[in-house]
Amino acid sequence: MVKLKAGVLVGSLRRESFNKKISQALIALAPETLSLEPVEIGGLPLFNEDLDNDSPPLAWVEFRKKMQLVDCALFVTPEYNRSVPGVLKNAIDVGSRPYGKSIWDGKPAAVISVSPGRIGGFGANHHLRQSLVFLNVPTMQQPEAYIGEVAKLFDAPGGALDEATKRHLKTFIDGFAVWAGRNTNRRL
Ligand code: FNR
Repeated sequence: MVKLKAGVLVGSLRRESFNKKISQALIALAPETLSLEPVEIGGLPLFNEDLDNDSPPLAWVEFRKKMQLVDCALFVTPEYNRSVPGVLKNAIDVGSRPYGKSIWDGKPAAVISVSPGRIGGFGANHHLRQSLVFLNVPTMQQPEAYIGEVAKLFDAPGGALDEATKRHLKTFIDGFAVWAGRNTNRRL
């Protein structure tokens, strides 16, 4: 059985983040053919091309190395002001440089957005896709996933996700496992 590795990037650093909770549920629900590994992005210094010299920040080097070792990427993002939170955009920018050495090129990805609002982070989801087009990241089209009114999807604050949401997430992550297997540039 071929097993793909996905790096999971979450666009919220908040301790009680809904996006983190959804990412943890996805990790638990992933099929055997896909292992999901959280990739820390909160400690990446803000991208500044001047620092990308002979000794770039260690956090950038480690992040780039980690992302080079995974077959695909899963983005779980909140929406900030109808767009992608800075922390996630920064990780994308750090991974995209030095010029010609982007860790994103050809790596399949999926996007899921999560919000307490009704629109489910649609704006962030699609702004993120805009960057992924430029970075040559084939991004799963269907199923789309906009998780709206997320606070209502838990039994209680701090409680478990409801069964309907778990089924929805399972469909999404199973779909991604199959789709990433078809689109990976790793020789299988
Ligand atoms: C938000 N929030 C928000 N929500 C939304 O649906 N659309 C938006 O444009 C925004 N804009 C926004 C800007 C900023 C600066 C903050 C801090 C928040 C609310 C946001 O969805 C909410 O705080 C979520 O709980 C953030 O996700 P986590 O941290 O729970 O994962």
